[in-house]
Formats: sequence, structure tokens, C-alpha cells
Amino acid sequence: MEQKRHWRISSKNRETPDSVTLRLEPTDGRPVAYLPGQYLPLIRTINGREERRAYSFSSCPGLDNQPAITIKRVPNGLFSNWLVQESQPGDLLLSAAPAGQFLLPTQAPRHLIYLAAGSGITPIFSHLKKLLELGLFPDTSIALFYANRDSANTIFKKQIDQWVHTFPGRFSCTYFLSREKAVENALFRHLGNALFERETLRALGGKLTPGILKNTQIYLCAPVALMRMAQMTLGVLDFPKENIHQETFVPERQQPLRTIDTSQTHHIAVTDRTGARTEFDIYAGETILNGALRQGIDLPYTCKTGVCLSCLARCVHGNVEVQFVEQTRHEGPGALINTCIGYPVSPTVELVYD
Ligand SMILES: Cc1cc2nc3c(=O)[nH]c(=O)nc-3n(C[C@H](O)[C@H](O)[C@H](O)COP(=O)(O)OP(=O)(O)OC[C@H]3O[C@@H](n4cnc5c(N)ncnc54)[C@H](O)[C@@H]3O)c2cc1C
Ligand code: FES
Repeated sequence: MEQKRHWRISSKNRETPDSVTLRLEPTDGRPVAYLPGQYLPLIRTINGREERRAYSFSSCPGLDNQPAITIKRVPNGLFSNWLVQESQPGDLLLSAAPAGQFLLPTQAPRHLIYLAAGSGITPIFSHLKKLLELGLFPDTSIALFYANRDSANTIFKKQIDQWVHTFPGRFSCTYFLSREKAVENALFRHLGNALFERETLRALGGKLTPGILKNTQIYLCAPVALMRMAQMTLGVLDFPKENIHQETFVPERQQPLRTIDTSQTHHIAVTDRTGARTEFDIYAGETILNGALRQGIDLPYTCKTGVCLSCLARCVHGNVEVQFVEQTRHEGPGALINTCIGYPVSPTVELVYD
């Protein structure tokens, strides 16, 4: 059901002391389809267990010849240490198909505001390439707020500074540095509610009219606590919820799995994008994804924690409880279901990957 692909690392460039960009070429030589803001789900078997991690493209289709991903090392992290420290040009990687919904708007907004921290700049960098280098939405003003420790640890700083000078009046960047003073366009401050509100207002000309609120699209990719602060501030300022887009790299905490009851089963039917239908039974208390994987049915997934959206399928029959950290949603026909945190509640559930 899932389409996997092999890649060869064609080059490896250090961005900061703990991050690198890997350029990738598909070993099958076929074209690569992806959109700015999407990610590549990498797959690796470690100690006999398949592990997956998402890495956003830092490249932009139509501009960069080869897709690229940018990885920041996480202490003791299984994948990021291997990719940042050990991987070499020539090494082979395995992935599932590019996925993700952190996409540019389909129509030109009057303003775009981006908030990034650390490696959260990666999908935003791909958006910025499309906007600035390929000239998408030329009349849209773009403001980037970018939080880091210091300039040496700020991924893509050189390119971003160059854009600030090349596109004055269209693109601005404010850095928030916690450990370095006196850097151009930077504030030596942690980004909190009051500062975020002040900078947002400044980026939008000082006054929020209904027209500005409606015509501003906002993209957040940062640690959960920073994005929560931004969401609250934007809510108080009255920005419509549907104009705020967020990409979460790691959930704040993981929801524990439920206890499995092997005496009860649910019947699941899934139809994939080619129209092929697969039917199987899972135990009560099992997520739809885990029940499928246990039986060797390879439904798409990456994070298994409800944040990457690569497992989304549309429910066409039955009811499912989708158990997020902060809430459990009861969903039925028509809803998109995260199969990795989705527990059937009706005897049968039918899903379609569309
Ligand atoms: C949609 C999406 C896009 C992503 N894009 C990128 C990207 O472009 N670049 C990138 O570097 N990463 C990206 N990530 C994060 C990436 O998928 C991994 O989670 C990250 O590299 C850590 O994996 P690991 O195997 O090294 O660490 P793990 O072995 O999974 O974790 C080790 C420990 O570190 C903690 N941890 C995991 N990730 C982080 C983090 N980011 N910050 C702080 N602590 C963490 C874990 O909770 C755990 O305690 C993305 C994630 C998602 C869901
Ligand atoms: S696998 Fe990431 S949201 Fe389900």
C-alpha cells in the first residue's frame, strides 16, 4: 500500500555546529514530486525494529536541482545523530513518499508572518525560496521571527540576511537570540506574549483592521510551548484560526497507548489511492495503524504520535476515537482520522486514503 523509495546522499554541508543539509538523489532516477513545506519520512531498521522520522525539505522544487533535508542533532537522538555525525555522501537512505500539509496558501495573502525556532526554520526556508527566489505572490509582505541561542547556531542565517538586503520592503527578519547581543536585526530577548504581539503589530503596519486580520496568513514551526504562546497571542489579537498554520516536530508528551483486549475485535476496511481494498480485524484498544502493522499491512505513517499527519485517512463508515494529548475527538463519516492515534468504537470502520 505504501510507496517506498531509495535515495543516495549526494552531498553533506554543515549549516551550524550541530546541523547539516543532505542533498539526495533518488536511486531510480525518476522525478521527485513534493511541495514547499512537505517532509520526507525516512525509514531505518534499528535493532530489528523499523523506526521512522520526518525531515522537512529545505530545498524548493523548481529551484533546487536535488531535494535536500536539513537535520539538527538532538542529544541521544537515534536518527539525528546518525544523519548529522555519521552519514556520508554515497550512503543510501530509505523513505516513504513525501507528505505534509504545512503548505503555502493557494491565493496571495496581503501579509505572511512566519515564526520559527531552531530546525523549525527548515520547511519555512523552502516556503521563502518559493516566495523570494521564484517570485510567488510578489505583492505579499513577508515577516520572519526566528528564535535561536546565538547567530552561530542560527540555521540559514547567511541566506536569510542576504534576502533581507535583496528584498527590502517585502521581506524582513527579526532574530530573537537568548545568548548573544549586538547582532544586526536581532533582539537579545526571549520571545514572550508581549514581545510577539509588539513585533506582529509592527510587521503589519501598527494597526490591525478587519481587512488585515483576514488577509494575513501565519505559519508556526517551533517547540510546542512557543507555538502555544503564539497561538494565544494571535487569538487575543483576533486572527482567524483558519489563517494560523502550525507544524509540530515533537509532541510535548506522548499519549500512552490503551490496554489491548484480545477478546474483542473491530473490522477495518481501507481503500488506498490506487483503489485497492484491504480488510482486516484489530483488537479493541489497538490503534488502527498498530493493528494493521502487527499483521504486516503497511499503512502509511511516520511519527505515530499524531503530529505529522502522514497517516491521515478519511472515514467513510463507522466511528473512531482520535486520542490527542489534550483531547479525544469522536469522529465519524467525512472526518479525517489519524490512524496512529485512532481507536475504532463501532464494530466496523471503513477508511479511504484520498
Ligand atoms: C512533520 C515533521 C517535520 C520534521 N522536520 C524536521 C527537520 O526538518 N529537521 C529536523 O532536524 N527535525 C525535523 N523533525 C524532527 C525529526 O523527525 C526527529 O524527531 C528528530 O530528528 C529527533 O529524532 P531522533 O531519532 O534523533 O531522536 P529520538 O531518538 O526520537 O529522541 C531522543 C530524545 O529527544 C527528544 N526529541 C526528539 N526530537 C526533538 C527535538 N526536535 N527537539 C528536542 N528534543 C527532541 C525525544 O523526545 C527523546 O527524548 C520533524 C518532525 C516532524 C514530525
Ligand atoms: S503517523 Fe504522524 S500523525 Fe499519525
